[in-house]
Amino acid sequence: MKRICVIGSGYVGLVTGSCLSDLGNEVICVDNDKDKIAALKDLKMPIYEPGLEDIVKRNTKAGRLVFTTDLKRAVKDSEIIYITVGTPPKANGEADLSCVEDVSREVAFNMDSYRLIVDKSTVPVQTGQRVKETISRCLKKDIEFDVASNPEFLREGSAVDDFMHPDRIVIGVETERAADLLKEVYMPLNSTIIVTDIQSAELIKHAANSFLATKVSFVNALSVICEKTGADVDKVAEGMGMDKRIGSTFLKAGVGFGGFCFPKDVAAFVKIAEKLGYDFKLLKAVQEINKTQKERFIKKIENALWNIKGKKIAVLGLSFKPNTDDIRFAPSIDIIQALQKDGATINAYDPYAMDKMSKVLPKVKYCSSSYEAADGADALVIITEWSEFKELDLAKIKELLNDPIIVDGRNIYDPDVMRKQGFKYVCIGKKS
Ligand code: UGA
Repeated sequence: MKRICVIGSGYVGLVTGSCLSDLGNEVICVDNDKDKIAALKDLKMPIYEPGLEDIVKRNTKAGRLVFTTDLKRAVKDSEIIYITVGTPPKANGEADLSCVEDVSREVAFNMDSYRLIVDKSTVPVQTGQRVKETISRCLKKDIEFDVASNPEFLREGSAVDDFMHPDRIVIGVETERAADLLKEVYMPLNSTIIVTDIQSAELIKHAANSFLATKVSFVNALSVICEKTGADVDKVAEGMGMDKRIGSTFLKAGVGFGGFCFPKDVAAFVKIAEKLGYDFKLLKAVQEINKTQKERFIKKIENALWNIKGKKIAVLGLSFKPNTDDIRFAPSIDIIQALQKDGATINAYDPYAMDKMSKVLPKVKYCSSSYEAADGADALVIITEWSEFKELDLAKIKELLNDPIIVDGRNIYDPDVMRKQGFKYVCIGKKS
């Protein structure tokens, strides 16, 4: 059992803190957002993430998990300090590290004996070094400490499960003491632990996210070739993915990747490389393909509907992917805005993301079901592959639509079946 404090109660911090408490540690989650901490104390989750609420409730009740805005106290009471604050993108694509710097200073001011400071925020390579320098400079007396990098690989929508069953745990350290402490923390997970230097651990995070984004852009580029040649991108991906060297995941063609990680992390990696004097052309192409994939999808809708002006379009799925209410950098935002600009009105439905989206896109009619969205619409557009959309009563949808057109950005239906049912069905990377 360790005494741990987790600074920053966003996605990564909240999941990390609550899961670490579930492993038996005493965890203090800190955030400077008073409302968020007050809500968490009332066991109200700021995000929708399967399994999170149960874990928070269970461990709060057991007294192993507490929430506070008092960073000072939390640092004093903990041996291991995780930094999980936000590193949002600046206008030029670089990560904004001001919160990491602020927290490093605060930690230094409030340390009174040895501490292990673990960076879990997604940060540019060599940030660990900066954290170490900052803490050394700001310490009031000569106190020993270690800095470590422990990148997070959890996915939104399956974050708790990813934390509890990781493919690997990466620990970047400078001393054995730091490595041993972190190995002890993660021992209950029974997972493979890879110990590296700090820079390598930081780079593993950049490399993993950028490589996964590259896979997605590769298959999206392939979808264009499939459309032009009559091939089927899902079949091509299946055939490729069976080669163990390639692997079948992250080969699903769609409307382009979104979310708060891939777009931001790829942009940050391009910037890091630029600063290091390397022009990462491959990643620039990944970004470009992602942008054009979204634009191509908008064109598909425009082509399918013939004239957009005055049409009513039903949009299913607003979050950037299923099982989350996160809409940050969601492709749905750009797609809906483009259709509205062309003169369409939008009926939208999403199982969890409508509340958040209504603040970003107020001129959309938010519906209580897919059927209500489809009622009287001139086409149905699928942007996020929530599983409930795969089980729709399509005969009912056909009856409700003004014109039986479906533009599917996630290939959730069989084109032959759809056409037999009388739909004009347009999807990604297949013959239309
Ligand atoms: C991603 C990584 O997968 C996590 O390992 C990492 O920890 C996280 O970023 C992070 O850095 O915090 P996440 O953004 O939650 O996780 O979502 P993913 O499941 O990776 O999906 C990212 C985007 O790619 C989504 O828009 C999704 O729709 C798209 N995608 C993914 C595809 O279009 N096709 C695919 O085959 C897979």
